[in-house]
Amino acid sequence: GKRGIMTIRAEAINPEIRKSEEKVVDSVVVSELAKPLTAYCRCWRSGTFPLCDGSHVKHNKATGDNVGPLLLKKPKE
Ligand code: FES
Repeated sequence: GKRGIMTIRAEAINPEIRKSEEKVVDSVVVSELAKPLTAYCRCWRSGTFPLCDGSHVKHNKATGDNVGPLLLKKPKE
């Protein structure tokens, strides 16, 4: 059914990644990005977090969500 914004409940989005850390932060040295394309997870379900491993597909199917990765692309030379 249609969900109004008032019925949306706040929930933790991170089910299991590095729960012993107060805040999960990752940093990337941009000059070391060698690959033409790198996908970073935004669904918090990846087995290779912070990289995307495609787990968002299963999550979206199970929940009706529409999340996907952040793609970092190297400029074409
Ligand atoms: Fe999380 Fe792809 S696995 S965005």
